[in-house]
Amino acid sequence: MNKSYWMLSSKSNDYKSLKNDIDTDCLIVGAGIAGLTTAYLLAKENKKVVIVDADKVGFGASGRNTGKVTSQHGLIYDSIKKKYSSQKAKLYYEANEEGLDLVQNIIKEHNINCNFKLVPSFIYTQEDKYVEQLKKEYETCKELKIPCEYYDKIKGIPIETKGALCFKKQGQFNPKKYLDSLAKINIDMGVEIYENTPIVDVEVGKECKVKCANGNIITTKNLILASCNAWYDGLMLYFSKEEASRSYLLCSKLDEDILDGNYINVEQPVRTFRTYEDDNGEKYIIAGGQDHKTGKCNNEMENYKIITDFTKKNFATGEIICKWSTQDYISFDNIPYMGRINMKENNVYIITGTSKWGLSNASIGAVLIKDLIVKGSSKYEDLFNPSRLKSYLNSRFVGENLEVAYDYIKGKLISGNSDLPKKNEGKIVNLYGKRYGAYRDKDGELFIVDITCTHLGCELRFNSGEKSWDCPCHGSRFDYKGNILNGPALKPLKRYGDGKNDVNPKLI
Ligand SMILES: Cc1cc2nc3c(=O)[nH]c(=O)nc-3n(C[C@H](O)[C@H](O)[C@H](O)COP(=O)(O)OP(=O)(O)OC[C@H]3O[C@@H](n4cnc5c(N)ncnc54)[C@H](O)[C@@H]3O)c2cc1C
Ligand code: FES
Repeated sequence: MNKSYWMLSSKSNDYKSLKNDIDTDCLIVGAGIAGLTTAYLLAKENKKVVIVDADKVGFGASGRNTGKVTSQHGLIYDSIKKKYSSQKAKLYYEANEEGLDLVQNIIKEHNINCNFKLVPSFIYTQEDKYVEQLKKEYETCKELKIPCEYYDKIKGIPIETKGALCFKKQGQFNPKKYLDSLAKINIDMGVEIYENTPIVDVEVGKECKVKCANGNIITTKNLILASCNAWYDGLMLYFSKEEASRSYLLCSKLDEDILDGNYINVEQPVRTFRTYEDDNGEKYIIAGGQDHKTGKCNNEMENYKIITDFTKKNFATGEIICKWSTQDYISFDNIPYMGRINMKENNVYIITGTSKWGLSNASIGAVLIKDLIVKGSSKYEDLFNPSRLKSYLNSRFVGENLEVAYDYIKGKLISGNSDLPKKNEGKIVNLYGKRYGAYRDKDGELFIVDITCTHLGCELRFNSGEKSWDCPCHGSRFDYKGNILNGPALKPLKRYGDGKNDVNPKLI
């Protein structure tokens, strides 16, 4: 996968993988913002904490995002007020402000250098038809007593707007520097971190037995899934209640002074950008957008071109340092699922559905889970309750799941090519009457894998931007060798000659 600017600009530590069976109070699966913050808070409560990650610290969405830590999440407040109530909308604001405060306090207490800055955050529109929605959001924010301002134009940026809603004193930082420091702080507090340790199964009980890919067993009193997606879902079918969505970002040098801030538009296609200044005072812009459902894009490389054109057209840019893409899981009411995984497994907790705003949301999710483990309750329990029915019993849920059924069938009908791919190309091929995914690397080596998704059996599609096989049904992704990049799938793809893929037997 392409590395983000944040990954290139922060020095990762290496943590060893787990090579034996162990016991702990709290096992956290995932070393992103959700997992590292939960570990930090639990360690402060003197819990014995272990974190495992299939990859490395901060190599998931947390190290690849735009780095805005804010309570301004698009047009969320009017939407929560309409769907639930004004009280819930206000509580969502308070939760995310508390998430932002927590990040700031951790940075201050431990003197973390992660280029954190307080800046204004703007949602803007360039089209007349969205002005009314933006004004409605402003009215709702005022009613909820959220400090904010409405402007027709944003002074200090070279983009013409028809309207903009501003929250002042919001955060922006280099998320990977924050996570790398938080990992070290965790280690100093006695937390154990194991990288390159994928989890492949769990037996839930008073003590959960969690199985690593290499066969080692971790016995834990509390299991926390901070894995972005729900690879174990306690029969709650999370995969049908959230949608995997990818977006594209770039980092470019900025050769002009613009108003420091976080910016995102209301309309489609999404355009998001923010300013950044490194330790040497060099200025950059991080910009992107082009969101789409995972596995549902015919030309990923084109998206990089579109965001490059957007950035160059609107800003005085210098060298483009890097481009990358990543994904997050969007709940159907845009409120994350955070808390007990279901109503009966009282020692299994989850943070998922962070809906592209996980830096503040997952930080408060960590507080919520710490409180559930330590005190048994939290004031945010109800708001983020993963078992809430209203989040998905709606037309979007029905529509999305009908689309999944359609993609399942459509995938099976796509026939493969008879010729093999050229260098740097990936395609579906027919070999002896069976379909496979084939990719040829730049040196000419050919990689052929079975492309039936190991989660629930949908057919994968080639992602030309990342050279990966992506699932249009629930967002699992695999590299061209068949290794898992994103769940909920738990098993890799089999290489040609090794037989058919194993589809998750616990789900079908
Ligand atoms: C393009 C883009 C821009 C974004 N910008 C912002 C932003 O500006 N502000 C904001 O608040 N949010 C933003 N987000 C969202 C934010 O990045 C995520 O919500 C957040 O990082 C989720 O954190 P996490 O810790 O839950 O997941 P992750 O950071 O993805 O961590 C999960 C970890 O779990 C590990 N894992 C998964 N399965 C297993 C397994 N079976 N065994 C072991 N380990 C496993 C993974 O390897 C990974 O390291 C953005 C998202 C996208 C896609
Ligand atoms: S992710 Fe569910 S079938 Fe592929």
